[in-house]
Order: sequence, then structure tokens, then C-alpha cells
Amino acid sequence: MDAELKEVLEAFARGSGKICVLTGAGISAESGIPTFRGPEGYWTVGSREYQPQEMATYEMFTQHPEEVWRWYLYRLSVCRKADPNPGHLAIAEMERLFKDRFTLITQNVDGLHLRAGNSLTRTFQIHGNISFMRCADACTEEPFPLPDVVPAKSKDDMMTTEELHLLRCPNCGGMTRPHVLWFDETYDEVYYRFTSSLRVARETDLLITVGTSGATNLPNQVVWEARHRGAILVDVNAEENPFGRAALSSPRGFFIRGKSGAILPGMVEVFRQAL
Ligand code: APR
Repeated sequence: MDAELKEVLEAFARGSGKICVLTGAGISAESGIPTFRGPEGYWTVGSREYQPQEMATYEMFTQHPEEVWRWYLYRLSVCRKADPNPGHLAIAEMERLFKDRFTLITQNVDGLHLRAGNSLTRTFQIHGNISFMRCADACTEEPFPLPDVVPAKSKDDMMTTEELHLLRCPNCGGMTRPHVLWFDETYDEVYYRFTSSLRVARETDLLITVGTSGATNLPNQVVWEARHRGAILVDVNAEENPFGRAALSSPRGFFIRGKSGAILPGMVEVFRQAL
């Protein structure tokens, strides 16, 4: 690790400042979960191929609810097979080290951070969690875990009547939807911790962004707010990206190019020794 970065991280750890980690699909790539925009995201409905940006919409759900559920149950099968990797474990260790100085904001719906040991209170899942469903009519704001008996689906599996029945709202018996933020929807506090994320961005002294292409709205606001407030910015990504550039153009910013599973454990070690 760059000697200057090491010194900055050590000084941060010895102080009392707050740390926020913001993750995207890249952190789960080493667990075998394909990034959202890759070729495996395509889905066929009738005779047409749809891109994730078309499937993951409220509009598509209103037109083809069963197809949208089938697609999510297929994606769920990929997530259920995956395990947290050293990058996730390193971030869980950061929470153990920094306790209430720590917050995690993740765009990933795969739940791997929670399985790695991060707490639900300190993890803002700003795009939801694929293992949960909620009432499509919002009869209650509560998300419900998908029943274990709901089977993961391969691409060609159709939904059975029994499975559709399992996906009824436990509260009102109506239709449910996946507990995820769709492209034609907006962030809010109650489901996606919008206001809380911006508050954390304003208060953070160190922001570590990991494995995200910086394409979505709230993560951009978080990065620019933290930068504006003079936080230390560290971006970890396999490729150059807007958040890496934002870090490098800020007075106290660093870009580490590489795989998160290889880089984050080294950062944790620096924190552990300094604390
Ligand atoms: N380590 C670090 N970075 C990685 C790794 C890795 N092993 N593998 C890939 N990356 C980086 C890529 O270079 C890229 O910048 O992860 C990023 C993944 O980008 P996206 O697929 O665009 O994922 P993300 O930024 O999370 O997308 C944001 O947009 O599609 C929607 O809702 C979806 O949550 C998603 C959001």
C-alpha cells in the first residue's frame, strides 16, 4: 500500500472520526455474482430479449408480474449459491473495529454483507434486498423474507400455482413485489434509507468506495457531499471510474486499482494495528 495512504488511514483510525464504506456490484464479483450490466442479465419474455434496465422497472412489473418474479427468482438462485468473499469479510471486520463510527451503504441486493457479519442497523441497503418481498399495494411498509420454500429458479423454469400462492402478501393476501428499487422508481427513507445515507455522507470523515461504476444517483450524492465536506476519499476498483477520478481530484483522495478481495484485507490490517 502507498505509504502516504497508510499514514492517513493510521491517523484516521487513532482519531474519533467516522468511516463510511459505499459498495457496488464489484465487491460481489469475486463471489461469482455477475455485475448487473453483463450479458447474463438478459431475459426473454415471449419472443423478445429484455435488458435488466427494462426488466427491473415498475412498468414491467405491472405488465408482466409473473415474468418479473421469475427473473428475480432466477437471480436469487445465483445469490443463494454465492458466499461472502475476503472483501465482504474485511468490511465486516471494519464494523467490528470501528463500531458506532462505522456505516455501510450498499447498492447490492445480494445480502452478502449481512451474511459476512455486517449488522442490519449499520448497513443501508439502498437498492433493497432480493431475499425479501413486500406488498405490491403497500398495505404495510414491512418487507417479508421470501419463504424458504420458494424455490430458486433456473432460466427455463415456469412458476407453479403453489409458488405464486407463496408469493402472496402475508398481511392482506394480495400480490407482492421484490423488495428492490426499480429504475423507474425513486429513493426514499422508509425502504431505502435515502435521508440517512445523506446524513452519513455529511458526517463522514473517511469515505471508502468499492466496486461501483458510479452510475446511480444516491451514491453520486454521497460521494460529492463527502468530498464537499472535506472527507478523505479512497476508491477501490478494478478499473478507472468516476469515483476514482473524484478521489484523485480531491485534496485528500486516493484511488487503488485492483480487486477488492485482495485490497480490503490489507486496509483492515492497517486499521487493526493502529487501533
Ligand atoms: N474489485 C473491485 N472492483 C470491481 C471488481 C473487483 N473484483 N470487479 C468489478 N469491479 C468494478 C468494475 O470496474 C465496475 O466499476 O465494479 C464496478 C461494477 O459496476 P456496475 O456493474 O455498474 O455496478 P454498480 O456500480 O453497483 O451498479 C449500480 O446500477 O444497475 C444498477 O441497481 C443496479 O445496484 C446497481 C447499480
